[in-house]
Amino acid sequence: MPVIHQADLQIHQTAFPKQSTDGCTDGSRLLSVEQLSFSYPDGHPALHSVSICIAKGEKAALVGPNGAGKSTLMLHLNGILTGKGQVQVGGLEINKKNLPTIRAMVGMVFQNPDDQLFSPTVYEDVAFGPLHMGLDEKEITRRVSAALEQVGMSRFASRLSHHLSTGEKKRIAIATVLSMDPQILVLDEPTAGLDPRARRSLINLLHEFPLTMLVSTHDLLMVRELFPRMIIMDEGWVVADGPTEALLADPSLLEQHGLELP
Ligand SMILES: Nc1ncnc2c1ncn2[C@@H]1O[C@H](COP(=O)(O)OP(=O)(O)O)[C@@H](O)[C@H]1O
Ligand SMILES: [Mg+2]
Repeated sequence: MPVIHQADLQIHQTAFPKQSTDGCTDGSRLLSVEQLSFSYPDGHPALHSVSICIAKGEKAALVGPNGAGKSTLMLHLNGILTGKGQVQVGGLEINKKNLPTIRAMVGMVFQNPDDQLFSPTVYEDVAFGPLHMGLDEKEITRRVSAALEQVGMSRFASRLSHHLSTGEKKRIAIATVLSMDPQILVLDEPTAGLDPRARRSLINLLHEFPLTMLVSTHDLLMVRELFPRMIIMDEGWVVADGPTEALLADPSLLEQHGLELP
């Protein structure tokens, strides 16, 4: 199988051979996934020897067709799923003892905000994480206010979460993880289902965040705008990992993996 190696771009072409590098070049690893493989209980293999490394401050997009394994990979990053291989966050291996710390470090935002918002009010949803971290009431209130402010939703604290629009729910879902003061934001298809105005407003919001981010999406225009690094998955394999502009400039790579720049 041909494997193209360019200076800082690795593209694994054709039938997805085993990956040889995880994309980290220096010692500032915040998130490290090494040779992670996973099959669902029904036997369906969803991840094949996936290795990725995200450095502190890095903003990376995870792209690939439906069923590529993006959500499955993300669910391994805070221990919701456990596969074969190694996942480390901030140098901590995911295990039972480290799980509460890791769940606070990895701000995981699911694709469907209804999976994240389950309290009656916005305030209670955003306070849920800090409350379970054992923080005192004053600190919880401070964190909820700060998180709502960061997503531009301060006025929504007493609203009922399930009455909000999808765009508003997405912002509140992000606030529920910001209130835990995460080290990395992991967002699963944040612009899916949004109208153009809500999409634009979410992109502008993400643009302002100084946090490390890993974001799965089909929105290649957003990737171009926000993410200098792009990781392509297909059929459970990482098939390319490199600078976004270089990968987007390769039409045959995009076509091979069902990606299309509008
Ligand atoms: N609960 C499940 N049981 C069995 N197979 C699953 C389950 N969830 C996802 N899969 C399969 O795992 C593969 C990866 O799915 P997923 O991670 O959701 O992909 P993506 O997020 O890239 O669309 C798909 O083939 C999907 O059908
Ligand atoms: Mg998905």
